[in-house]
Amino acid sequence: MKYEQLNTPSYIVQEKALLKNLNILKDVSDSTGCKILLAEKAFSMYRVYPLIARYLVGTTASGLFEAKLSYEEFRTDGEPVKAVKENHVFEPAYKPDEMKEICSICTHLYFNSIAQLEAHRSIWEPYQKAGKIKVALRINPEFSTQEGHAIYDPCSPGSRLGIRRESLPEKLPEGVTGLHFHTLCEQGAEPLIDTFRSVEKTFGSYLDKISWINMGGGHHISKADYDTEKLKSFLNETKEKYGLEIYLEPGEAIALDAGTLITRVLDRVETSDIPTFILDASAACHMPDVLEMPYTPPLFGSLDSRGSSDAPGADAADGDADEGGSGQNAGDGVWVRLASRTCLAGDVIGIYKLPSYPAIGDILTFGDMAIYSMVKNNTFNGMALPDIVLEHAEDTEDRFEIVKHFGYEDFKMRLS
Ligand SMILES: Cc1ncc(COP(=O)(O)O)c(C=O)c1O
Repeated sequence: MKYEQLNTPSYIVQEKALLKNLNILKDVSDSTGCKILLAEKAFSMYRVYPLIARYLVGTTASGLFEAKLSYEEFRTDGEPVKAVKENHVFEPAYKPDEMKEICSICTHLYFNSIAQLEAHRSIWEPYQKAGKIKVALRINPEFSTQEGHAIYDPCSPGSRLGIRRESLPEKLPEGVTGLHFHTLCEQGAEPLIDTFRSVEKTFGSYLDKISWINMGGGHHISKADYDTEKLKSFLNETKEKYGLEIYLEPGEAIALDAGTLITRVLDRVETSDIPTFILDASAACHMPDVLEMPYTPPLFGSLDSRGSSDAPGADAADGDADEGGSGQNAGDGVWVRLASRTCLAGDVIGIYKLPSYPAIGDILTFGDMAIYSMVKNNTFNGMALPDIVLEHAEDTEDRFEIVKHFGYEDFKMRLS
């Protein structure tokens, strides 16, 4: 299908960009022996799992449903459906009625407390003793390397994620052979190294008692400025020093900058400051992280941008607009507010400086929309979910494939 034939809104995932990221990740694992997993919570477009499965050893799930999705779909073309790949799962607390199925399809199981480990022992232990599953405990190094986003910081005070040193017995419980920490968010190699140094200090006595360690996600490995050489040296040194099998489980790094969201301009509203353009995409429904984090997504062709919570008008235009803030005399661009057609006043994607005002019917393209977008979207206000489109790597006009189209039935079936 041609680009012009696509619906709006649509998420378009670019195979080429995905491959670029996967090659970077594969290079890290090839040169260190470290195993890399896809964190499905960030990106679960299972249509491309067979492609990803050619580069990564498996997935990590946040619970039964993601684990099942991996079990059914994460395999290279031609491989039989049956966990050929590794299927890891971590949940802060497991539901007893799901545990048996989890154990029957997963290869690695992580517990968030000793109480959880023991509560489910009678179910997981036979699998562990039969060599079908490996068991780890998630630890909380209480070493924060990020500021400003407490919601994404598992080391923030009061965090329920991971066992603190004082709650871990001197001798690891029977059956536990691994440790897991996840503390980073969109970070470089340095914070990982600092975190591991802190783990060595606090949890060092356990490192020669385990055979594997999972260093979580949040590694922005496929970002242009990520120091992959530093990561590789660290992984090689650590492997050698402790003889451990090392896992990383990034989500973002797999599909970073590998997707866009296209949306159509439906109307222009003259507001008290700068013009607002109403789009058929919604921050609240289709890109919830924009409001949750919050952040302003990149918009192709824009000259500058501001967060939607920044005071608009004169402030947003910052001297570029005329006194009244209408943006008419904005020199090399005009400031506009891009908002949604939902009822939520705050459903604003951001304030952008564009070369000129868009026309009604124009298509706008937001970048970096593969991750934490389609996995988090919703149908609030009865908004239709965006189509999921795969842009194949071949350079042909017909390279766009609508993998899934959503309509009224998808909205209705989640209600009763
Ligand atoms: C336990 C765990 N592992 C991996 C990830 C993936 O992180 P990212 O997508 O930032 O790489 C997350 C994200 O929240 C997580 O909670």
